[in-house]
Amino acid sequence: MEGLSTTSRDRTFVRITRLARGDQQTVREVYQGLSETSRRLRFLVEMPAEPPATVLRLLAETDRVNHVAYVATAHGRPVGIGRWVRDRHDPCIAEAAFSVVDDYQGRGVGSLLLHQLMHSMLYAGIGTLVCTRDPENSRVERLLAPWGGTRTWVDGVIEHRIPLQWSASNSTSVPEARCA
Ligand SMILES: CC(C)(COP(=O)(O)OP(=O)(O)OC[C@H]1O[C@@H](n2cnc3c(N)ncnc32)[C@H](O)[C@@H]1OP(=O)(O)O)[C@@H](O)C(=O)NCCC(=O)NCCS
Repeated sequence: MEGLSTTSRDRTFVRITRLARGDQQTVREVYQGLSETSRRLRFLVEMPAEPPATVLRLLAETDRVNHVAYVATAHGRPVGIGRWVRDRHDPCIAEAAFSVVDDYQGRGVGSLLLHQLMHSMLYAGIGTLVCTRDPENSRVERLLAPWGGTRTWVDGVIEHRIPLQWSASNSTSVPEARCA
């Protein structure tokens, strides 16, 4: 599934590739494309316009096993990153997070990243995707809603839990979510 794809919305060609380990430059470019509001929605706290060095390092420190990230590239520039981080206590659960630069939001990039994350989670033996969002983040709600699962309020944020499984017997198809 990795490779050239097209957004469902405006047919912009988007390439989805794995973020190379330590690629802080790509992480920085996507971060710098987020508005103040988008940064807060992504990190659930106010964040500065320039990414702090520790945040950059952590976000770029993927390992292909417990921390996997994918980059969406359009018109020669990175426009989004989606990642999952395996739960320390339960290896069958992973937390997903997304950043799409403001001028590409609402064009289907987040959906492409979500599909890629779901595929790679299934290949990694992960059966539950967790995503924590600000209650006002209705776009993430709309992004995740078709996949069902549950929503729980936890300390002022909403935690989505989406069970994953392969659809039919076709391992190349889009994963199917079991609707709760
Ligand atoms: C949240 C975010 C990642 C979503 O990415 P995006 O590229 O904007 O999202 P998409 O365009 O793929 O999908 C969202 C839209 O597609 C629609 N959509 C996606 N899949 C769908 C489906 N299967 N069926 C129906 N609608 C669907 C949603 O209704 C939504 O519509 P909207 O334009 O009215 O909001 C992005 O907006 C972002 O980075 N925001 C700031 C940071 C943030 O909030 N991060 C998430 C915290 S984990």
